[in-house]
Amino acid sequence: MKKSENLKESLKVLKSDSEYRCDKCRDMTFIIDDGVAIPCECRALREAEEILKRSGISSEFRNKTFDNFNYLNDVQVMEAYKVARGYVRDFERIEKSRNNSIMFMGQVGCGKTHLSLAIANTLMDRGVGVLYMGYRDSVVRIKQNIMDQAYYHREMNRYKNCRVLLVDDLFKGSITGSDVNVMFEIVNYRYFNGLPVIVSCEKGVEGILDIDEGVGSRLVEMCKERCVEIRGKKLNYRVYG
Ligand SMILES: Nc1ncnc2c1ncn2[C@@H]1O[C@H](COP(=O)(O)OP(=O)(O)OP(=O)(O)O)[C@@H](O)[C@H]1O
Ligand SMILES: [Mg+2]
Ligand SMILES: [Zn+2]
Repeated sequence: MKKSENLKESLKVLKSDSEYRCDKCRDMTFIIDDGVAIPCECRALREAEEILKRSGISSEFRNKTFDNFNYLNDVQVMEAYKVARGYVRDFERIEKSRNNSIMFMGQVGCGKTHLSLAIANTLMDRGVGVLYMGYRDSVVRIKQNIMDQAYYHREMNRYKNCRVLLVDDLFKGSITGSDVNVMFEIVNYRYFNGLPVIVSCEKGVEGILDIDEGVGSRLVEMCKERCVEIRGKKLNYRVYG
């Protein structure tokens, strides 16, 4: 390689200003001012991107918002919408309280996941970290790797310790004892440590308690007046929306 080409190669490593996403701080997210490091104005944006990346929420799910949720067709759906709105309004105040969670239950296709995601998206826009857990896939993955202790603990710790956990489609499909054990470990930990959950589930309170009273009664206590149950085949938005 000629000397000039060598130099060209090494210059590629030193990015030009325009290659940085933020020219002000050259992507360091802080600026040295008079010998003191001060946060750059791009930091909040980068933090928001990081929260989103870690949430596991896809761009399709990012589009589920309060703005594109139609609550005018039915009183139960309107009530669910109101409870969801109240939850995000009060989140910071209730986060550390015993009753800091919310659960949408019942009819298939009535918007349980949509409302759960509308909450998650609003909280993330405010800088609150949320982790999405698709119940079926996550539990299958955890069980497949149950012999791999390091993996098991890493996965479980993510679900146990994230600031807000969204459990989508809790207890969907046929349920075994080890499925219940996985959920119990996560829910019990969050219950004891006062960490909020957002849950969507086809079963009602009775159904969840029938599957496991330990998991069910803890969730009911964490959600209390925010246990929202929707009933009626006509409310399947996929069919009648
Ligand atoms: N009130 C609504 N306004 C606008 N879109 C809605 C509404 N209800 C549901 N949808 C849309 O209909 C589809 C089904 O809703 P969603 O997935 O939230 O239902 P679900 O109650 O979670 O169903 P499942 O029990 O099958 O998981 C989604 O695309 C959702 O965005
Ligand atoms: Mg759903
Ligand atoms: Zn910057």
